[in-house]
Amino acid sequence: MAARVNGLHHVTSGVWGAQEDIDFFTQVVGQRMIKQTILFDGTVSFYHLYYANADAEIGSVSTTFPFSRMGISGRRGSGQINTTGYSVPHGSIPFWKDHLKRHNTEIVGEGERFGQKTLHFRHPAGLDFEMIEDKDDKTKGWTTKDIKADAAVRGFHSVAMSVRDIEEQDRFLTEGLGLEKVGIDGNYHRYRINEGGAQKTVDLVHVPDQKQGSWQFAPGIVHHVAFAVPTEKEQMEVKLHLEGLGYTDVSEIKDRNYFHSIYCRSPGGILCEVATCDIGFAIDEPKEHLGEKLLLPPWFEPRRAEIEAQLETIKVPQGAMAQ
Ligand SMILES: [Fe+2]
Repeated sequence: MAARVNGLHHVTSGVWGAQEDIDFFTQVVGQRMIKQTILFDGTVSFYHLYYANADAEIGSVSTTFPFSRMGISGRRGSGQINTTGYSVPHGSIPFWKDHLKRHNTEIVGEGERFGQKTLHFRHPAGLDFEMIEDKDDKTKGWTTKDIKADAAVRGFHSVAMSVRDIEEQDRFLTEGLGLEKVGIDGNYHRYRINEGGAQKTVDLVHVPDQKQGSWQFAPGIVHHVAFAVPTEKEQMEVKLHLEGLGYTDVSEIKDRNYFHSIYCRSPGGILCEVATCDIGFAIDEPKEHLGEKLLLPPWFEPRRAEIEAQLETIKVPQGAMAQ
């Protein structure tokens, strides 16, 4: 049976300062800045920054909310996306180790999981990422003056969800979203979306003794992961299917300007979004100039001056936008 979602869409996190986040994603991870907009929820304005691969593809999009003005810190724990994995070319981990050291980025460790080499490193806000060597991923990475095509990040490899119990999260992933369990490696339980591989893999990390992490918006934690569906038609089918299974807290469809979204709190605590792919990031600026200036959706535009006054001044480094 085909999965009800096609792959990963984006991963959204809270961070501290906007500038250190931009520098991390564009200079350290080597992603392209593809959108500057704001958080659409709530009453206070925060940036919403988007980073992706060369073609701004779904399945490569990290988005962040710089929340330093909140003055609070999110608690890491179970019920969260524990680590976001990026797919990198086979044999590129030695480059990444040197590159991360040159940028004074914290390297947490190195290892191997499900036969693939991994390098675990940390965003300045405390978020955990991994480079995972994947020889089968042919997605086109974004290159910078320091990061060439033979090492460039191609997109997501997978996300790892930390859960105290496997069973109910397994049910949600398999019966709810149609994923298939493929194996266990240590305390990692792997699921694939259709054929699996990069952008189509979810891991559950079994952490029975870990305290619950924060669910709110806050710096230092992932807020949610989004899965991709082609259009609102498939999105509504997922919503009705989940509600029919008893997951009745699926949200209404929200207009995120670049995609439409529904959200559901999964049994392990992780907020899962299902987002459409048929609108895209070129709706309000040309593909070759993505991410160069602050864009607001039409319903926020009348408040632009008031919103801009609440935001930090940022500088996007040379080479982080279209080349
Ligand atoms: Fe999202």
